[in-house]
Amino acid sequence: MNDGMVLVTGGAGYIGSHMVLALLEAGHEVVVLDNFANSSPVALERVARLAGRAPRCVEGDIRDRPLLDRLFHEHAIADVLHFAGLKAVGESVANPLAYYEHNVGGTVTLCQAMAAAGVKRVVFSSSATVYGEVAEMPLHEGLPAGTPSNPYGRSKLMVEQVLTDLAASDDEWSVALLRYFNPVGAHPSGEIGEDPLGIPNNLVPFITQVAVGRRERLQVFGDDYPTRDGTGVRDYIHVQDLVHGHLAALEVLRERRGVGVWNLGTGRGYSVLEVVEAFERASGRRIPYTIAPRRPGDVAECWTDPSRARQELGWAAELGIARMMADAWRWQQRNPNGYRNM
Ligand code: NAD
Ligand code: WQD
Repeated sequence: MNDGMVLVTGGAGYIGSHMVLALLEAGHEVVVLDNFANSSPVALERVARLAGRAPRCVEGDIRDRPLLDRLFHEHAIADVLHFAGLKAVGESVANPLAYYEHNVGGTVTLCQAMAAAGVKRVVFSSSATVYGEVAEMPLHEGLPAGTPSNPYGRSKLMVEQVLTDLAASDDEWSVALLRYFNPVGAHPSGEIGEDPLGIPNNLVPFITQVAVGRRERLQVFGDDYPTRDGTGVRDYIHVQDLVHGHLAALEVLRERRGVGVWNLGTGRGYSVLEVVEAFERASGRRIPYTIAPRRPGDVAECWTDPSRARQELGWAAELGIARMMADAWRWQQRNPNGYRNM
């Protein structure tokens, strides 16, 4: 299995840290590249403790070509899992150039360094947002990419196009475009989890911060959508399931060339109020909320048809909403201020 190391860009981040742990547990040798712009080295210390061995860690930027060249020269890297990037939708509207620079420019630089080093296998963290606004659910990979409603989403779509063009130009490339739905939850140990800086943009970290007393109440963005209870419906996926989907994709990529596109979700949608209820049940805490206006750019519903991932990757999400909430809560309760409180 171990024909080389796995480079994980953004490996200190929320999803990346869970990925690094899963890779170490599966016996891979791992090198992490992260500039810690949105993460803490403490996450990697905890990963090392949980795994019983440490990944190599390089503090640096995917935009730094000389650093990348050194990295590929010094380590026998066989695969790249590319998580590094900026991900705040609102911030991307205010500062689009940063998003195009880090997400698109950074990926181009990374691919140039990979090509120079002869490393041509990459798994990219894409997003369901690339489908744009689609009237009919579920979303499946046969649908054409749409028009994402913000620069963050457009940067993800651009990277998909860059990687697709690259693979078309050179048939030695193996590329997985993994379109995540809504990753939530945390490792069951409660030692690593999602630790957003400032006010959380996403629903579940907001809920857990209310539960732990850091925020007073949740605002529910809109209760007049054409859904069962009027609130937005999403396909939440446990981060542990998500990283197992990456391990499956990696195995498949080792046997095939070209580009594969896979949605990673459960195939089941939950409304905002159903998530609140599931959290209350898992935690025993009440989550006070008020109904607020719709958030611009939000769609009513979004969930996946998980068939292609099941058929081609032999992978399906296993953990339900109760586990997602219980694990998110364990992490937040043990680390009320995330990685910053010790
Ligand atoms: P995150 O912010 O926790 O992780 C991203 C990591 O990349 C951070 O550790 C950050 O410090 C690092 N980073 C950012 N810019 C960098 C650069 N130029 N060079 C080196 N490191 C850099 O985010 P996450 O939730 O773990 O997301 C990981 C990936 O998955 C991102 O590409 C994101 O766009 C994508 N994604 C996330 C979600 C989600 O809801 N969390 C959904 C779909 C796609
Ligand atoms: C979920 C639901 C909100 C916060 C975003 C990005 C997407 C992807 C994942 C990743 C919606 C509602 C939320 C709150 C609320 N990106 N909500 N009150 O919007 O589906 O997807 O994250 O990198 O590109 O757009 O996720 O968690 O923000 O929202 O009522 O305080 O919760 O309206 O219905 P979303 P989310």
